[in-house]
Amino acid sequence: MSDPMARAVELASRGPEHGPNPRVGCVLIGANGHVAGEGFHLGAGTPHAEVAAIEDARARGMELAGATAYVTLEPCTHTGRTGPCVDALSAAGVAAVRYAVDDPNPDAAGGGEVLRSRGVDAQYAPSVAAHELNRRWLLAVARRRPYVIAKWAATLDGRTAASDGSSFWITGEAAREHAHAVRAGVDAIVVGTGTVAMDDPWLSARPGGREDGHQPLRVVVGNRSTPGARVWRDDNAIELRTHDVGVVLAALHERECRVVLIEGGSVVTTAFLHADVVDEIHAYVAPMVLGAGTSAVGDLGIRTMADALRGQNLATTSLGEDVLIVARLEKGL
Ligand SMILES: NC(=O)c1ccc[n+]([C@@H]2O[C@H](COP(=O)([O-])OP(=O)(O)OC[C@H]3O[C@@H](n4cnc5c(N)ncnc54)[C@H](OP(=O)(O)O)[C@@H]3O)[C@@H](O)[C@H]2O)c1
Repeated sequence: MSDPMARAVELASRGPEHGPNPRVGCVLIGANGHVAGEGFHLGAGTPHAEVAAIEDARARGMELAGATAYVTLEPCTHTGRTGPCVDALSAAGVAAVRYAVDDPNPDAAGGGEVLRSRGVDAQYAPSVAAHELNRRWLLAVARRRPYVIAKWAATLDGRTAASDGSSFWITGEAAREHAHAVRAGVDAIVVGTGTVAMDDPWLSARPGGREDGHQPLRVVVGNRSTPGARVWRDDNAIELRTHDVGVVLAALHERECRVVLIEGGSVVTTAFLHADVVDEIHAYVAPMVLGAGTSAVGDLGIRTMADALRGQNLATTSLGEDVLIVARLEKGL
């Protein structure tokens, strides 16, 4: 095999985007130089990639003594929902391990060192692709707070609602479909009580018009209660009676949310931007003008161009009549 680590990254990308755990892939190359087993992690509670690859090798009747494991993340040392991967690798007789990213989780890190102390030739073998695949997760775990995406649908003049509060629909079907696919990949959607009171949104992930198997946690922030709203239709929803962005992020980190989507409205989006915790902006822009109404973002205290929040334009995508601009504000890692 030409590049086992590239193959391991490809396998890792088959795991789910959402959930508390990273996406990890593993390729086992036998002492004879041929692929002995492959595996990837399907999310919390399922076998880690290393164990999945060992099981695959066993199912194929392959010999693992003297094998080399290529893993996209440092093998874990801890017993969480499953046992430590360092034990599984050494018990299988694996002689060498190449891992592409150090584990930032203090409870699970140090696997390379443990393997080396057991005589396994374990080496850090950095891969940009492996790092990029888990960039949001790595930041969330290292910073002990979720990666934050702020999303809105705005007119050309930056309005997210008309002055009567109506906002259906600013963008067309293609943009809304895209937004549903994004929802399906995050752990939580955050809105303010104002949006619940005005729009009574479902906040479900319905890519392709169907409820996705994974539904993000619905989070309503603010002091008002909103009884009877659609967001409360089942128990996959919480209210956080606070205006403190730090309290919101701490509560979501506690629930192992790694990526959260802030869907507004303007007051809540502004609060997150003001707190300087927004990592990415998804701005869907429609060829429409309102002239009055709610601005996507309120006053951030910025008074001069030099102080503007400048992001890196990651992608610009045409969606029917509309355009999506994805900008990255995050500077870490
Ligand atoms: N086009 C879009 O993408 C989009 C998306 C969402 C909403 N909208 C539109 O936006 C409008 C609602 O916007 P909005 O700004 O009024 O609603 P919002 O941001 O959803 O809610 C504002 C309320 O949330 C609470 N809150 C939570 N955190 C806060 C904080 N840090 N600081 C201050 N208050 C906080 C306050 O209510 P309490 O009194 O309960 O504390 C506040 O009045 C609607 O017209 C809706 O249609 C548009």
